[in-house]
Amino acid sequence: MDTPVILKTFHKGKIKEYFVMREGELHTDLGIIKLDGLKTKTFGDTISSHLGVEFIIQKPRAPDFFIHAKRSGAPMMPKDIGVIISNTGLCSPDYVLDAGTGSGILAIYLGGIAKKVVSYEIREEFLELARKNITQAGLSNIELRLGDIAEEIQKTDEKFDVVTLDTSAASQVVPFVPQILYPGGFLAVYSPFFEHTKEIREAIEKTNYTEVRTIETIERDISFSERGTRPSTARVGHTGFITIARY
Ligand SMILES: C[S@@+](CC[C@H](N)C(=O)[O-])C[C@H]1O[C@@H](n2cnc3c(N)ncnc32)[C@H](O)[C@@H]1O
Repeated sequence: MDTPVILKTFHKGKIKEYFVMREGELHTDLGIIKLDGLKTKTFGDTISSHLGVEFIIQKPRAPDFFIHAKRSGAPMMPKDIGVIISNTGLCSPDYVLDAGTGSGILAIYLGGIAKKVVSYEIREEFLELARKNITQAGLSNIELRLGDIAEEIQKTDEKFDVVTLDTSAASQVVPFVPQILYPGGFLAVYSPFFEHTKEIREAIEKTNYTEVRTIETIERDISFSERGTRPSTARVGHTGFITIARY
């Protein structure tokens, strides 16, 4: 499969960007771009619209997939993904188990770092959409599996360094995670509500984990304008809680 590119231009002080394949035409308010022309270009080159507006060609990275990839539901936000990566020390020799795959955005970030990611999704149509996103991201170290993680985790004899759970089934899965974690490995669970988080903490308490913490990350953009510099008045509110436990 062909991989997408980012086309970016700066217009009236704002960035305009498009996530496109190398075929067909893109109609923008700054003119039409013949996308076949991208086939002879490389990243860092520019391509012009029929109105002469130049667009820079960039290679998409994980944050671009968060913004532009097709979604089956809400993907995890980069700020929360960062907390998982920093608190588990996820690194290049790691084997990671992830569930549910959803749109595959967390899996794309994890796959860009780890040796291998196995990701389970219960809904076939979601798995196929994630497969497309992951293929477009050019990652071949992510194995997608169709199945209910609450059942599949009990059947596997594989071992992992990090397990990430972003599914309503997480509290049912937690008791089985130590069986598949290497000693010293980490579990990271994302949960949107206090109630769900409390269930996860209770499941962790009943199992043999050592260090446990639950955190929420608040992110504030800083806006710069003629009038002054201050935290942006438009901001992301609550997303979810991250619970990290070590085995
Ligand atoms: C919030 S989404 C995950 C988003 C994903 N982390 C991302 O960044 O794109 C939760 C996913 O879990 C899946 N799911 C729910 N229960 C599951 C189960 N028991 N086993 C596997 N996947 C499950 C849902 O179908 C949904 O796609």
